Order: sequence, then C-alpha cells, then structure tokens
Amino acid sequence: MDVFDAIKWRRSVRSYNPHYEVSEWQLNRLLEAARLAPSGKNRQATRLIVIRDRERKKRLAVLCHHQGFVASASLVIAAVSIEPDAKMGSGTPAHRVDAAIMLDHIALEATELGLGTCWLGAYDKEKLSEFLEIPKECELIALLAVGEPKDGWHLREADRLPLEELVFYEKFGVKKKKE
Ligand SMILES: Cc1cc2nc3c(=O)[nH]c(=O)nc-3n(C[C@H](O)[C@H](O)[C@H](O)COP(=O)(O)O)c2cc1C
Repeated sequence: MDVFDAIKWRRSVRSYNPHYEVSEWQLNRLLEAARLAPSGKNRQATRLIVIRDRERKKRLAVLCHHQGFVASASLVIAAVSIEPDAKMGSGTPAHRVDAAIMLDHIALEATELGLGTCWLGAYDKEKLSEFLEIPKECELIALLAVGEPKDGWHLREADRLPLEELVFYEKFGVKKKKE
C-alpha cells in the first residue's frame, strides 16, 4: 500500500473487534511513525499516552462523551502538548498543529497495517486530563482510537468538497478557469 492508498482507504472506524490486540510490533510501528512526524522548529513538544487497559478504556469512553465504541478499540493514543504556548513564526499557535500531524501519521500508518482508527476530539477536557494525570501546564490535544475494524475493510468514497470548491489560485476566492 502506498501513501496515497492509505489516504484513500483511511476512514473513521467506530466499530471494533473487542478481542483484537494490536501487537507490540504494530504498536511500535505506529509510535515510530509518530516519532518521525515534523514539528515547528523541530520542537518535538508532543507526548503520547497509550491506553490499553480494558477498565481504563471503559472510563475513557465515558469521558469521551459516552462514545461507547472507544472501549472496544484495542488501544487509544492521546496526544499531549508539553508546550501549549508554542507559536509558529507567524504567531499562529503551533502546538495543536504539531500534535495533529503526529496523530495523522499514526492514522495513516495504522491504515497500512490494516488497522482502523478514529480521531476523538469530543471529550470532557478537564476530567480526561485529570484521569490521564496530565500536568496543568500541558494540554491534551486529541486522541486516536485504534483497533481491528469489526466489519472488515470497505473502500468508502469520502464525502468531501470537489477540488473546484476547495482550491483557489493565486488569491483567495479565485477559482481555476474552465478550459
Ligand atoms: C479533530 C477531529 C476530531 C474528531 N472527533 C471525533 C469524535 O470525537 N468522535 C467521532 O466519532 N469522530 C470524530 N472525528 C472523526 C470525523 O467525524 C471524521 O474524520 C469525518 O467525519 C470524516 O470522516 P472519515 O474520517 O471517515 O473520512 C474527528 C475528526 C477530527 C479530525
């Protein structure tokens, strides 16, 4: 599978085989994909927490606004910024960008390994940060559920904007001229 295939095949998976265990080898590959992700000024200020314990995943599901499927994922990876004040040269906050790139590397590598993923951005931030014992000066950015898709793999067409709507040329609002 090449990178573009992984991009095409990745879809949010919200139903996992609860008996499937991501192997140590697979987990190491996912974490290595994360480690190699770029970050602004190569600051590398994102930390990952891997949650595998069954009871803790159940609690996690509750704290993720009762998204029950989270408990049946093999594992959940939380991305935490240890420098939430980091800015890009433009002044735009960088820490969330850095963490998002890292999680997306994981999601694409998981697809290559035949694993399903789902981003998790809906959660009680305060309670979940407390549950994961994240220090106050850090910020929980997002989580990714990882597991074996219960219903197997189906190439599903992504519901996305057409390129004509997505892309402007030279200036905001200028669409490609029709040939
Ligand atoms: C930052 C972010 C947060 C998300 N949070 C959730 C979530 O809490 N629960 C969920 O089921 N899906 C969540 N999603 C998944 C999106 O709903 C999904 O990516 C989008 O609908 C496109 O579908 P696809 O991933 O299958 O291509 C999140 C996605 C992103 C990028």
